[in-house]
Amino acid sequence: MAIRENNTKSEKLWGGRFEEATAASVEAFTESISYDRRLYSYDIAGSKAHATMLAANGLLSKDELTAIVDGLTAIESRIDEGNFPFKSELEDIHMNIEKALIDTIGPAGAKLHSGRSRNDQIALDLRLYLRDQCDRFQALLEEVRAAFVILARKYMGRVMPGYTHLQRAQPVLISHHMMAYYEMFGRDRERIADCRKRINILPLGAAAMAGTGLPIDREMVADLLDFDGVTANSMDTSGDRDFAIEFVSCCTMIQLHLSRLSEELVLWSSQEFSFVQIADKFCTGSSIMPQKKNPDIPELIRGKSGRVVGSLISLITLMKGLPLTYNRDLQEDKEPVFDAVDTVSASLAIMAEMLGNLNFNTGRMEEATKTGFMTATDLADYLVLHNVPFREAHGIVGRAVATCIEKGCELTDLSLAEIREFSPVIDEDIFEVLSVEGSVNSRISTGGTATLRVEEAVQTAEKQAPGKRK
Ligand code: ARG
Repeated sequence: MAIRENNTKSEKLWGGRFEEATAASVEAFTESISYDRRLYSYDIAGSKAHATMLAANGLLSKDELTAIVDGLTAIESRIDEGNFPFKSELEDIHMNIEKALIDTIGPAGAKLHSGRSRNDQIALDLRLYLRDQCDRFQALLEEVRAAFVILARKYMGRVMPGYTHLQRAQPVLISHHMMAYYEMFGRDRERIADCRKRINILPLGAAAMAGTGLPIDREMVADLLDFDGVTANSMDTSGDRDFAIEFVSCCTMIQLHLSRLSEELVLWSSQEFSFVQIADKFCTGSSIMPQKKNPDIPELIRGKSGRVVGSLISLITLMKGLPLTYNRDLQEDKEPVFDAVDTVSASLAIMAEMLGNLNFNTGRMEEATKTGFMTATDLADYLVLHNVPFREAHGIVGRAVATCIEKGCELTDLSLAEIREFSPVIDEDIFEVLSVEGSVNSRISTGGTATLRVEEAVQTAEKQAPGKRK
């Protein structure tokens, strides 16, 4: 095995007990700096709070604290500017920053790691990072929801077929369909808010896994970093990644919702449906078929759900057999978390933009409600209101539909006399009941598609985010 000769043991922050330099292959295999560098600002914020607490408890002098804080600020600027030499032989973000601090400010820097371990430090960085992502996701979800409210307002009163089994089922308002997604992404917001509560607990102070004998003040650090509290058990804290799994499972649910929406947009933009036009700038062409305009954005969002589900499975599998407490396996949590964050946030952002560039072909959608016996349930309900037991009514309507199929017509094409043959309780008012508009507007149950109800839902949504949804 190739040993890197010029890597003396003293270069490692943990090098004291080692006789031999680390093999280059081992450094390459164990490093995480190539991806955990994205946590640098959280690592630095955590170190500043930790140092402030150490100083307040007599473990650092005032001057040492100033040197550490200034040193960390300078390092942060260098990283911001792309002017910091990350080294894989220093493994991870924690040791890259700590070593740079010691190199810049000398002995005071070497006191920073008192009372803490990289095990609680990485848990802290990840929690701070995910807390920010929760806030970012809330804003992105809000944009997507706002786009649905705008669409619902724009197409208020226009009808389309509602489907079950992808077969025409009952007519609904386009706005009702839009507001269904508004609800789904609303639950995603609630889930993220709930997940944030469990993320926002300070892990620092668990140290390696048993706590520390040094006089630290965890509550003070929690205050400084805006955490809601401190974790209760150092062993749990050191090995816990529930919060990351929970976050990625929220990500999975969001991507799943985006994927279902994407599937509908792909279907609706096909020539077979022709329900929607996605603006040219959100589509691409084919390199061989000049006539093509492809819905690549929704297709890619749908496809990317595989990655997000994959990240969740990676994390769950990673944790499954781990004994307490910290195990190096946990380093493998970062990439799935980052990939889920990047994929879902990019998908949300582009979806919000694309929703603002959709045009529904309302004529075609309305036309599609006219065939397929979409108001057959209304006829059954009509019979029920005239005291016919529902099961009997269902049979009557079934026979009426079968007759229409035989004749090649719709229920509304039958004359009153013809329709009365199926039941004597039927009267002239049946034609209003069987009309698409009559059908839609009769569905006034809470959560139903009647214009009255949908208008209420849209107004409530419009009021919830004043200024945002015009
Ligand atoms: N890079 C490590 C990780 O991501 C940091 C913690 C390492 N701790 C240790 N004792 N080796 O998990």
